[in-house]
Amino acid sequence: MKGDAFEKVMTPHNFGSNIFVSPYVGLRPFYEEEAALFFGRDKTLSDVLTLLEAEPIVAIIGHSGSGKSSLILAGLIPQLRIRNEQPRFFVMRPGHAPVSNLAEALGTSEITHLSTTELNALARTDPDQFVQILSHADCQLFGVVDQLEELFLLKHADTREELKAFVNILDAITRADNQNVRIIISMRGDFLVECSSVGRLAEILNGRTFLIPRFTSSELRKCILGPADKFGIIVEQELVDRILTDVNAVLDPDYLPIMQHCLGQMWRVATNSHSDGAATLTYGDVQSKKSLIDKNKNM
Ligand SMILES: Nc1ncnc2c1ncn2[C@@H]1O[C@H](COP(=O)(O)OP(=O)(O)O)[C@@H](O)[C@H]1O
Ligand SMILES: [Mg+2]
Repeated sequence: MKGDAFEKVMTPHNFGSNIFVSPYVGLRPFYEEEAALFFGRDKTLSDVLTLLEAEPIVAIIGHSGSGKSSLILAGLIPQLRIRNEQPRFFVMRPGHAPVSNLAEALGTSEITHLSTTELNALARTDPDQFVQILSHADCQLFGVVDQLEELFLLKHADTREELKAFVNILDAITRADNQNVRIIISMRGDFLVECSSVGRLAEILNGRTFLIPRFTSSELRKCILGPADKFGIIVEQELVDRILTDVNAVLDPDYLPIMQHCLGQMWRVATNSHSDGAATLTYGDVQSKKSLIDKNKNM
């Protein structure tokens, strides 16, 4: 994988203060710093932002791998930074101790004058007061609760109190007297019915869920071409068509990570095979690899 061509094309690119070595992120979610490489979600973003303007909590629901975390981190957060004056953000996952994790996320970001320990205690004893303190902090606060489904691991007797306490906080956010605290949730769709069995979680989420759509072909085209364009790379039309044909033939929800993985592979194959420092990804570069999508379906 070494050599001049590879080194040349793989020279890290700078967008603002962020540095990227590849236009495609692979199997993992996009991070906020990678917003410049995040394409294809304009319509979805605008729909979620509209819902979030009206509601204090919005839950983005979809399959694992449908792009929920990426949408939040690389799409919504950058947009919310632009649209709000001095917004503050925290990102957490429930894990085994959602209330403690929430207190930790808030305490370490110094959004209030309370310590993590004080926040942790107050969140459990008086969720309304807890939310009131947050909503009267001098900022618009956006919290991301990624993978809410982790809550449902806490349904056993010894962890149920933690689960209830966290749901009570979400409930208190829906009753807050101002709109300064907003929560964006991601949750796997196959856990949606579980919400009916946990306190008021169903009521909290009713009217506040957004089912993440599958990308259309034209959006997928943007996902392929946008990042390449940022790197000054042309992707041959025939290659794009071939990828789209392959991806559209995959009905299961894994199509997106598979596509990302394949794009990363193609990028490596193509950049490695051009001794002159490739500026174009061609179908010829990857033809010999047959359908990378097919090859990777069972990865
Ligand atoms: N807009 C996008 N363009 C290209 N790939 C994307 C996009 N959004 C997500 N992906 C890719 O899809 C896969 C799943 O994304 P992720 O955000 O982790 O989904 P989820 O949180 O729903 O499991 C990852 O490989 C990610 O890089
Ligand atoms: Mg995720």
